[in-house]
Amino acid sequence: MVSEFKLAPSILSADFSDLRSALKICDEGGADWIHVDVMDNQFVPNLTIGPPVVKSLRSVTDKFIDVHMMVIDPDKLVESFARAGADNITFHVEAADDPNEVIDLIRSTGKMVGISLKPSTPFSTIIPFIEKVDLILVMSVEPGFGGQGYIAESTDRIIEIKKYLSDQCLDRIQIQVDGGIKLHNAEEVISAGGDILVAGSEVFGSKEPQNVIKKFYASANAINA
Ligand code: DX5
Ligand code: ZN
Repeated sequence: MVSEFKLAPSILSADFSDLRSALKICDEGGADWIHVDVMDNQFVPNLTIGPPVVKSLRSVTDKFIDVHMMVIDPDKLVESFARAGADNITFHVEAADDPNEVIDLIRSTGKMVGISLKPSTPFSTIIPFIEKVDLILVMSVEPGFGGQGYIAESTDRIIEIKKYLSDQCLDRIQIQVDGGIKLHNAEEVISAGGDILVAGSEVFGSKEPQNVIKKFYASANAINA
């Protein structure tokens, strides 16, 4: 059973000179979320988007804005992103001195709370904080860049996390999967337990991005049928 599948196109692969068109594509394709990759050139070797861009996006869309912070000291940016209009704020467990503090801070802004882990970080690292979050972002590539290949072992990790959540009666926590998500592996990832898929290059690298978004939803519906 796939419950409330969502696609979150990552605007990292969109044309930064024309983000309005990227939002239009998401609208026309019917995507639920907009995924915004925030990189600080310290936690990851790339530099991208900050709160002013989120504020601009917020001023022209009502869509759910999903901020994925790949930054050190995430606590220092939470309030800025919340004020800018983010709806979900995800931070990396590897980047936080005190993950509990970051979770409480995000919660205090009234936003959804996500925690993420890199492919090499053991799942056990986030277990102490799991009950306090709304979403677990499983990285299925090394964070930092779009267009990389899906790490095959991610599927077993998603299955493991899904089972843990089910065993602990924590099914309310959603699993988001990010990196190398394509139409050809969507079914595998959704069947493993991915509730929200992030797709960057597959959507924005396509000539018909709206149709790609629709096809992701069709894959989820086919599993659900
Ligand atoms: C990578 C980012 C991803 C990226 C995904 O660090 O977190 O969200 O945009 O891009 P694709 O879908 O091309 O792998
Ligand atoms: Zn991301």
